[in-house]
Amino acid sequence: MQVGMGFWASKTLLSAVEMGVFTELADGPREFSELSGRLGLHPRSARDFLDALVALGFLHRSENAYRNTPDTDLFLDRNKPGYLGGMLEMANARLFGFWNHLTEGLRTGQPQNEAKNDAAVSPFTALYADPARLKGFLKAMSGISHGANLAIARKAPWGKYQTYADLGAAQGDLAVQIALANPHLRGIGLDLPEVGPIFEEYAAKNGVSDRVRFQPGNFFDDPLPAVDVFTMGHILHDWNLEQKKMLIAKAFGTLNRGGTLVVYDSLIDDDGFDYTGADCIGWMKEAGFREAHVEHLIGPDSMVVGIK
Ligand SMILES: C[S@@+](CC[C@H](N)C(=O)[O-])C[C@H]1O[C@@H](n2cnc3c(N)ncnc32)[C@H](O)[C@@H]1O
Repeated sequence: MQVGMGFWASKTLLSAVEMGVFTELADGPREFSELSGRLGLHPRSARDFLDALVALGFLHRSENAYRNTPDTDLFLDRNKPGYLGGMLEMANARLFGFWNHLTEGLRTGQPQNEAKNDAAVSPFTALYADPARLKGFLKAMSGISHGANLAIARKAPWGKYQTYADLGAAQGDLAVQIALANPHLRGIGLDLPEVGPIFEEYAAKNGVSDRVRFQPGNFFDDPLPAVDVFTMGHILHDWNLEQKKMLIAKAFGTLNRGGTLVVYDSLIDDDGFDYTGADCIGWMKEAGFREAHVEHLIGPDSMVVGIK
């Protein structure tokens, strides 16, 4: 029952993030009537909604006032650097509805997202057709990848290299974190042209625009920049096996000798597909990398490091 009715809890949290409940409470506790007024809640549901958030462990209540828990304050206040809610905003605005068509996807094998009505179009073309969705998606990527990005910026063998390019860089959090942790490096974020202004704004906000630049491009059709290290975060999982192998081979062909490819994704155990560390090592060896190994980052994310 808990799993089957899990959408009750899920949607309660997603609506709270959408309405900015945790941002409202970032300055401290608020009385019930003040909080429900500021959030624009109807009196019929206000008390139950806020108390459900208490019961789920996202808020504390004492007397008649509500306040954030330490976790929601750190991760769900939009104005804090640790904000992870971008991913939840996207889950609320897009994914929640798509999952209602899971059975159809399982029976037809067809995507149920924006590309549903035109499978020949890249899902990103359909997704990026709306500027608000574009920005929301790129922010969501930073939210979900930030912890792994910090780990890669420290764990990968950056000391012996000078240049890197993150392929499919989105808002640029990985490119930015690598630059912040390694002042000797210069980096490029490559992504589709629509992403450029959002990437550049993020690099400037983090004070690394002098060392990190955006390169508009399509990693299937355009030449890749010549650098010492390529990174690909949550890229290979989007594409079929032929395309995965093509991207790895292209990175291998372009890398400087002795260079490194870092692929990272939520890798699954070696009995499954899409994909395991062993799969990715196999594809890298097939492309010519002389050495490859898997290293855990955080949560479900691991990186596969291939050395040319
Ligand atoms: C799932 S997101 C991953 C973003 C980021 N690397 C991360 O891990 O947070 C995939 C990224 O690939 C980019 N992308 C998709 N197709 C692309 C293409 N053909 N050429 C370049 N970038 C592409 C998208 O714009 C998006 O930013």
